[in-house]
Amino acid sequence: MDRLIVEFDRALRAVVGVVQARRESPAMNIPENEIAEEPRRHAAALMRVNHVGEICAQALYQGQALTARRPEARGALEQAAREEEDHLAWSAERIRELGGRPSLLNPLWYAGSFAIGAAAGLLGDRWNFAFLAETERQVEEHLTGHLEALPPEDERTRAVVEAMRADEARHRASAINLGAGELPEPARLAMRLASKVMTTVAYRV
Ligand SMILES: [Fe+2]
Ligand SMILES: [Fe+2]
Repeated sequence: MDRLIVEFDRALRAVVGVVQARRESPAMNIPENEIAEEPRRHAAALMRVNHVGEICAQALYQGQALTARRPEARGALEQAAREEEDHLAWSAERIRELGGRPSLLNPLWYAGSFAIGAAAGLLGDRWNFAFLAETERQVEEHLTGHLEALPPEDERTRAVVEAMRADEARHRASAINLGAGELPEPARLAMRLASKVMTTVAYRV
C-alpha cells in the first residue's frame, strides 16, 4: 500500500510538473541569445516533445521497476528514473523560458507508458532490460535529430539536449550490463512507430 502511494505521488508530480532536479540545469551558465519568433516557437515545440519523452520515461521506468524481479534490477531502474527526473525538470524549465507550454496530453502519455513498462517487466528481467536498452537507443537517436533541428543560436536548449543524450547513453550501457537481450526486429519497429505517433502529436498538442 505504501509503495502504491509513493508511486502515485511520483506520477502526479511528473504529470503536474512539480519535479525538482537534483543536478543543476546544463543551461545554467549559458547566456540566453537573441532568438527570432519563429525559431523560438520551433525550439519550444521540440522541447515539448522531449518533455513528453521524459514523462514517458518516468512512467516506463516506474512500471518496469514495479514488475522487475531481481532487486539489483529494481535498484538500477530506480537510479535511472531519478536521472530522468532531472531531464523532466530541465526540459520543463526550458519550455517555460522559451514561452511554450507542456503537452496537454501528459496524463495520457503517462498512463500508456506505465502500462507498457509494467508489461515489459512481467516478461522477465532479460526482456525488461532489452526493452529499456532499445528505448534509450531510440531516444539517443531522436535527441541527435533534435540537435540538428534546433536553432544554432539556441545554446541553452542545446546544452540541455546534449546532457540528456549523454545520460541516455549511460542508461543504455547499464541496461546492457544488466543482461539486456536484443529485441526482435518487429518489436523495435513497433516502438519506432509508437514514438513517431507520440513525437508528431506532442509537437502540436
Ligand atoms: Fe531522459
Ligand atoms: Fe534514459
